[in-house]
Amino acid sequence: MPDALQLMRTRRSPRIPDLEAPGPSAAELDTILSVAARVPDHGKLVPWRFLVIEGEQKKLVAAELLPLLRKAHPEATEDQVAKEPGRFAHSPLVVTVISRAGPHPKIPEWEQVLSAGAACMSLVLAAHAMGYGANWVTGWAAYERPCLDLLGVGAGERIAGFIHIGTPKAAQEERPRPPLSEIVTRI
Ligand SMILES: Cc1cc2nc3c(=O)[nH]c(=O)nc-3n(C[C@H](O)[C@H](O)[C@H](O)COP(=O)(O)O)c2cc1C
Repeated sequence: MPDALQLMRTRRSPRIPDLEAPGPSAAELDTILSVAARVPDHGKLVPWRFLVIEGEQKKLVAAELLPLLRKAHPEATEDQVAKEPGRFAHSPLVVTVISRAGPHPKIPEWEQVLSAGAACMSLVLAAHAMGYGANWVTGWAAYERPCLDLLGVGAGERIAGFIHIGTPKAAQEERPRPPLSEIVTRI
């Protein structure tokens, strides 16, 4: 088993069509979600929650998303229409991270949003550490109100990401990362 640093240095996001069964077991998923719930959280507000979409529910969600996509994006090609909701049905498991950030007398909303992003990243890394692949995506379904209604996302909530998790069917190629010289400065 590689050490934690090696895992973080080698992580890649597999393409969703490359994420296959098996996905995490129920016990493994609980571990992944527990790791995600340990993120820094200024004020201990728990400004996020997790919606698990798995099993038969994936197909139902995918089917219900289809007409919503056609309505929201009449310009979408048949290929896009067929592909997009099908993503939900493809990967073994999707964890939706929902931000509950909002106005607070002491904790800026921005910091609550950042905490939801941290939860997404912890989910991805925990899945990776267990030997699974994970891909954090949003896409049209994260922003269309009818889709949010379908998923039970409330008026004050936002989707931080759909984290697709499964077993990568192919090794991931490396992609260029920004050189530290371009992103690090010192005072
Ligand atoms: C908030 C957020 C939303 C994203 N949404 C998408 C998306 O909808 N589609 C996509 O192809 N990648 C999306 N990505 C990027 C992927 O998660 C991933 O970073 C990218 O495929 C590069 O792979 P890597 O993680 O191995 O560098 C998103 C990333 C973030 C942080």
